[in-house]
Amino acid sequence: MTEPFLWWRDGIIYQIYPRSFADTDSDGLGDIPGITARLDYLADLGVDAIWLSPIYPSPDVDFGYDVSDYTAIDPRFGSLDDFDRMVQEAHQRGIRIVLDLVLNHTSDQHPWFKASRSSRDNPYRDWYLWVAPKPGGGRPNNWQSIFGGPGWEFDPETGEYYFHMFAKEQPDLNWRNPAVRQAVLDVVRFWLDHGTDGFRLDVFNVYFKHADLLDNPFAIGLRGFDRQRHIYDIDQPEMMPFLAELRSLLDSCPERYMVGETFTGGYQNAVRYTGADRLHAAFNFSFTQARWNPAKFLREIQSWDRALGKDNWPNYVLSNHDLPRAATRFAKDGNDERLKVAAVLMLTLRGTPFLYYGEEIGMRDISLRRDQILDPPGKRYWPFFKGRDGCRSPMQWDPGPNAGFTTGQPWLPVHPGYPSRNVANQQKDPGSLLNFYRALIRLRRSHSALTRGDFRPLPMGSAPVLAYVRSVPGQSILVALNFSAQAQTIHIDKEANRPDWEMYLSSRQDSPASLQAGCLTLGPDEACLLGNRM
Ligand code: NOJ
Repeated sequence: MTEPFLWWRDGIIYQIYPRSFADTDSDGLGDIPGITARLDYLADLGVDAIWLSPIYPSPDVDFGYDVSDYTAIDPRFGSLDDFDRMVQEAHQRGIRIVLDLVLNHTSDQHPWFKASRSSRDNPYRDWYLWVAPKPGGGRPNNWQSIFGGPGWEFDPETGEYYFHMFAKEQPDLNWRNPAVRQAVLDVVRFWLDHGTDGFRLDVFNVYFKHADLLDNPFAIGLRGFDRQRHIYDIDQPEMMPFLAELRSLLDSCPERYMVGETFTGGYQNAVRYTGADRLHAAFNFSFTQARWNPAKFLREIQSWDRALGKDNWPNYVLSNHDLPRAATRFAKDGNDERLKVAAVLMLTLRGTPFLYYGEEIGMRDISLRRDQILDPPGKRYWPFFKGRDGCRSPMQWDPGPNAGFTTGQPWLPVHPGYPSRNVANQQKDPGSLLNFYRALIRLRRSHSALTRGDFRPLPMGSAPVLAYVRSVPGQSILVALNFSAQAQTIHIDKEANRPDWEMYLSSRQDSPASLQAGCLTLGPDEACLLGNRM
């Protein structure tokens, strides 16, 4: 019997960076009514859930990842009523809502931290990691902030240091304090009560630190943070019982989901945190680092599958708000053909695809001058690292002023290529990337082989092609992806012996791949799907 559709396993999750999606009040920042107004677009695209980067009140030192109130909506994004309306409207269209929970740290403007910092004997003091200077005045240990410099900030008022893994305005919570864990569970309950379907847990594996705050050992690396093995400030065993508790809270409501952002450690680390009493999923970011090489992609897919085993479900990410977009990495020449190949890969693998807003129209990163950079690590490390603003530019809706994103002054520049690259233009063009995504998603929704099916790679020798078959009883789909700009002929004899393969979709509408006598000839940068009903 086929299993019923399960949104987070069989569906597509679309990440929205709210401040860049759609602005309805002309303040230059996207907002929740803007998202609600675009739900028809998302339903038409065919996504099953949207993950919203943080929408809580925040002083924006880290653009929402420094939360000053966990149970409210930042007034610049709207109100709780706007949120409830968005949830309702999304649900009516079969779209689930995933919220970003940033629980490792708060903003230094959060009332908990303000109270905590006010005096050593304040009841909230122990909600954060406060430590007295070492004899002689030194920092408590050698831990570093990933945003640069030591992780300890001295507070002259109370004469102690507090720890921050990110900016100094993002103090880390003390997760060993049961009151903190209770407060966090209350936050989760609050959003579940508001109809939230799932959560993305920001850097969850940093929550707990070693109780004795021991020095991390030395490692070879470029920056201070990379010159340590993070055995005492990340991945502490206390995380597991907490995840079990959180999971049982989620499981008390039907079909809720949580995906964790595993901070450092690669997919092997993500696997440790996935399971029936842990997270439903933890991100594997290996595609965001992969070169445009089919053998490398295949290796990543197989290692990830093997590591997860049969009980856990993979996920795939090409782009997000922290990294250069896939289009910037893979299609520098402005040609979208490769992006169609990437789209087919993402949407036909065994695993949940996470799409990043604008990926469906091939948005590229913007480039900024030094004085335009807003992102804290970009400011600190320029020109070695120019920050993460590039991938966060406003959504390109139409060729009008500011790409239809706002009638005000956009908080980040719109990509200068927007007059031609935008949703409205691509909707009109049958050969556009957007229309290709729509067709591909429709195909995926109507063929369970593409979601639940087995994954069987076909041997390609040294051909720059990735080909595989996805199948469920009674249905097979052969996916072939040409990673090169030259035509490629591949042998698929065993598969091709079936007489009734038919072309379901090709990225080269004009001259789709041809199949003859066990050979499939793919055009340059072609991605195609052949179907076979047995
Ligand atoms: C990971 C988020 O993805 C990133 O944007 C943020 O800066 C850090 N966590 C800190 O919350």
